Amino acid sequence: MSDYEPIEGTKTPLSFRRSKKLILTLLLAVSTVIGISTLAIRATHHRQQTCSNCGKYQPIEPAFNKSLDEILYDKDYKKSLVDKLTGAIRIPTEVFDNTPAPSVDIKPWKHFLELHDYLQEQFPVVYENVKVEKIDQIGLLYTWEGSEKSLKPLILMAHQDVVPVDPQTLDSWSHPPYEGFYDEETDVIYGRGSADIKSLVITHLETVEKLIKDGFQPKRTVLISLGCDEEAAGACAAKISQHIYDRYGPDSIYAILDEGGSVAELPGGEFLGVPVSTEKGYLDAEITLFTPGGHSSVPPDHTSIGILSELIVELEGDRYEIFVGEDNPALNALQCFLENTPNDSHRLRDLISSGNLKKAAEELDKIPEFKYLFKTSQAIDMISGGIKANALPESVTVLVNNRIAIHSSVNETLNHILRHVKEKADKFELGIEIVNGRASEAQNATVIKPETPNGHFVVRLIDPLEPAPLSSSSNEVWDIMAGTTVNTYQQKLFSNGSNVYVTPALGTGNTDTKSYWALTKNIYRYSGALLVEDSREHTVDEKTTGKSVISGVAFMYQFIVNVDKYAKGT
Ligand SMILES: *[C@@H]1O[C@H](CO)[C@@H](O)[C@H](O)[C@H]1NC(C)=O
Ligand SMILES: *[C@@H]1O[C@H](CO)[C@@H](O)[C@H](O)[C@H]1NC(C)=O
Ligand SMILES: *[C@@H]1O[C@H](CO)[C@@H](O)[C@H](O)[C@H]1NC(C)=O
Ligand SMILES: *[C@@H]1O[C@H](CO)[C@@H](O)[C@H](O)[C@H]1NC(C)=O
Ligand SMILES: *[C@@H]1O[C@H](CO)[C@@H](O)[C@H](O)[C@H]1NC(C)=O
Ligand SMILES: [Zn+2]
Repeated sequence: MSDYEPIEGTKTPLSFRRSKKLILTLLLAVSTVIGISTLAIRATHHRQQTCSNCGKYQPIEPAFNKSLDEILYDKDYKKSLVDKLTGAIRIPTEVFDNTPAPSVDIKPWKHFLELHDYLQEQFPVVYENVKVEKIDQIGLLYTWEGSEKSLKPLILMAHQDVVPVDPQTLDSWSHPPYEGFYDEETDVIYGRGSADIKSLVITHLETVEKLIKDGFQPKRTVLISLGCDEEAAGACAAKISQHIYDRYGPDSIYAILDEGGSVAELPGGEFLGVPVSTEKGYLDAEITLFTPGGHSSVPPDHTSIGILSELIVELEGDRYEIFVGEDNPALNALQCFLENTPNDSHRLRDLISSGNLKKAAEELDKIPEFKYLFKTSQAIDMISGGIKANALPESVTVLVNNRIAIHSSVNETLNHILRHVKEKADKFELGIEIVNGRASEAQNATVIKPETPNGHFVVRLIDPLEPAPLSSSSNEVWDIMAGTTVNTYQQKLFSNGSNVYVTPALGTGNTDTKSYWALTKNIYRYSGALLVEDSREHTVDEKTTGKSVISGVAFMYQFIVNVDKYAKGT
């Protein structure tokens, strides 16, 4: 296929399936839902609460800070940085669910080549001093060699791709999605990719560009990994990860920082940084019921559509149990948020603070915005079956999308579904087969119950992913990340001595780090940048701010320097 065009009507981005909604955005959004008006918060006169479970850390001042003042306070510099980002936004690197594998000959990937040229033009010092490899033609891996080869490299990640813009929504954008418009008055940068996540692509490259120009030579190698289909399958990053694995080996990386958590300004003017230290698992279960066809004038009492409908109703009626474990980072983030949200009558806060997690779980289970941080979700997302009014449906298919809680597993989720399938198979005398993967993939079938003359169920397990390993929030990398955050947000640009907290959080979706588990235990989905409220990732009027972008560069500049000086880990 040399002239691939997405087929009209199939432009639904996969990302709707996988959209990363970060806990903080969730928490901030919900503060209005539960009736805490901003005005009420502003009017709060005393703030004596101390944050018992939010981490307070000493600021770590970088030993090398040549450009830090310029990054934070120079207006011309800020404008030039914003220009680099808006230029990247203008290149529409969209990926679709059905975009074929990377190839330089296929149209959507040509935009990625344009982006490559653009990055080379914008970051000449990086391209002169850093090894740049194209993995599988479109993936980008940068290697900034450190002087001490025995030290494990640090990886900074982001992705080049963006979710497509639905053409139907074009009229609703305040500024066209690929115009790269910057409103200097309000400091807002509009466009697809501004928030997710070209800002981070620019941040990583800009940071290294600056540090090299400033004469900084790291001891520890720094890698930048830029996948090309994070919003679809994430196959590009998987290849980059394999390449790194082949070069350095298992557990060979010091730490990984990827997109995910950022730093929110709390209603009281304090700051909360939330590195995402684990992610929920994933499973699409596609259930097909095959039954004999025939003329609809002599139907059975229940057609395959009727039987599957019964199954769906029962599955929806059997929701997953909530479990609020002490090790769930969502609990830390939630507690931190609640303790810093002035509301003296907040029952949930008191339950959590007093350690009454069983009662807290009951409360949380009533709050839609919070409960799925602590339980597996199931959503019946697609259904199809039947082709004609006078023909009995010979097959009908339903897809159940699951985001697996961190205390659970793919197996447990499958067992939950199978329990109901078995019940229907018994009731209607049907067989059951489990198959790994899509119809188009190599697959293994396991027969649980043999097919009968009445037919059989086929349960396909698609994209199964266990919950991510939990990265520590009390180790050296964490402390450097937290101390760097404090130092960044205690700069006068952001505050005048207000507190900065750092606490782990949970990701309810998955980033490209899902393919990087074998490289290190220290995976943090964290940009260190200032959270932009209502940034509208994946939808109309996606945006970020100039201030957020400079905060990200200021954080990353110091983080690289601090890791280089303070990390003892080999
Ligand atoms: C405090 O929280 C409770 C329970 O969520 C809510 O009903 C009440 O309006 C809140 N009070 C203020 C001042 O926000
Ligand atoms: C940079 O470091 C110097 C020396 O430690 C310090 O005086 C200065 O305030 C630092 N600049 C910033 C922006 O932190
Ligand atoms: C998965 O669940 C089944 C049924 O409960 C159990 O027999 C099996 O041991 C489990 N497998 C794993 C790997 O946990
Ligand atoms: C099929 O089963 C074999 C043995 O259990 C396993 O190694 C292989 O990964 C499976 N393949 C798929 C596509 O699931
Ligand atoms: C800090 O700054 C905020 C907003 O800029 C202001 O409302 C507050 O009064 C300041 N606090 C102090 C102690 O100066
Ligand atoms: Zn993203």
